[in-house]
Amino acid sequence: MTDRLAPLYPQHMATLRERADKALALGGFDHLVIAAGTPPGKFLDDQHYPFVASPHFRHWLPLTDAPGSWIVHTPGRKTRLVFLQPHDYWHVAPEAPNGYWVEHFDITVVRTAAEAVAQLPGAETRRAVIAPECPVVAGAEANNPQAVVDYLHYHRSYKTPYELELMRQASRIGARAHRAAEQAFRDGASELGIHQAYLAAAGAIDAELPYASIVGLNEHGAVLHYTHFDRQPPTTSRSFLIDAGASAAGYASDITRTYAAAGHTEFQALINSVETAQLGFVAKVRTGQSYPELHIHAHHVLANVLREHGLIRMSAESAVASGVTAAFFPHGLGHPIGLQVHDVAGFQQSESGGSIPRPAGHPYLRMTRVLEPGMVVTIEPGLYFIDMLLDELRDKPFAGDIDWNKVNVFRPYGGIRIEDDVMCTDGAPENLTRDAFALL
Ligand code: GLY
Ligand code: MN
Ligand code: MN
Repeated sequence: MTDRLAPLYPQHMATLRERADKALALGGFDHLVIAAGTPPGKFLDDQHYPFVASPHFRHWLPLTDAPGSWIVHTPGRKTRLVFLQPHDYWHVAPEAPNGYWVEHFDITVVRTAAEAVAQLPGAETRRAVIAPECPVVAGAEANNPQAVVDYLHYHRSYKTPYELELMRQASRIGARAHRAAEQAFRDGASELGIHQAYLAAAGAIDAELPYASIVGLNEHGAVLHYTHFDRQPPTTSRSFLIDAGASAAGYASDITRTYAAAGHTEFQALINSVETAQLGFVAKVRTGQSYPELHIHAHHVLANVLREHGLIRMSAESAVASGVTAAFFPHGLGHPIGLQVHDVAGFQQSESGGSIPRPAGHPYLRMTRVLEPGMVVTIEPGLYFIDMLLDELRDKPFAGDIDWNKVNVFRPYGGIRIEDDVMCTDGAPENLTRDAFALL
């Protein structure tokens, strides 16, 4: 893996340095100072929440376990890493930096947070300090200048070849773990058992995943962010929805699959239709495609899926216009992904900020931009049987155009979501997720 990354890293670094120079010039700053951050403490406790390094820090180097460390970029100078390696026999100190990236940094090892701060350009300089506003490290208070952050966030949408390679790796780890989870489902495991099989195959602990895994059997598939994990298996496992990702050097994958148990052919047929639709949307991840238009298109295609399976009798147009499809598909088609599972700048108008609004009536869409080469987005249509939303349809004038008996047939299966991570290129899209499954 490192073999592939090493030759790509110098160009990645050059791109980030160029972007940092521009961001500083736009904001009127001389130094870009980026905190890795520190793990937040628990209220009235001596314990901490798991440490997650700032995405700005992880953008520069594959160092995910470096609490209290800093990056300093000053135009025209070698980029600096102030690396905190405490003298401490209570914890494992972060390993001394090594690997393909270290030669690109001027590295200073320090032993305390105060020593680290003493290494940074002082408060009297024109410095942009990119860090969480809380907790504040004395002498290195964050200012997160808007012009600098806007510029950096906008350009994070365009992944370098190095970043894409890490995202392919994250997809491969995720695909491998998804296979193990499917097997655990077929073996009759509980939700917790399936999740443990997933973690074992990913070689990860929960805190290392890019988001909390969703592992739902039967009706639980209808809870969009179900993260409960029943300890006991249900009497019968009819269906299984798993939305789980993996990390590679701080880059995320975000993958959802839905399975029917053997013999549940009607639900399997509905899964197949959603999958065919999903692959059609993936094929439209092309330069110049408006993402919100793709989301609206998905509503029309899913309306036809509902019609074909006898769930609704109205036209696709009226199903979309009346909000019927929104009851079955109540989330966005997808979102940008990268250093964060829901990556930044999904709504950003330009490198100097601004926001592109969502289409009216689609409050959960997380991406309103036009696709360009180097962007990676998820494509994750779904169909769910959510009592709360279906109940709202029952009193509507068009309720008679919904086949409620059919709805009841599908309710015990919860729902369906199928999610791939897809890169927009100059030509055909690259489906990181399907490629990763195909390599298994
Ligand atoms: N796993 C969260 C999402 O799919 O957006
Ligand atoms: Mn997603
Ligand atoms: Mn997901």
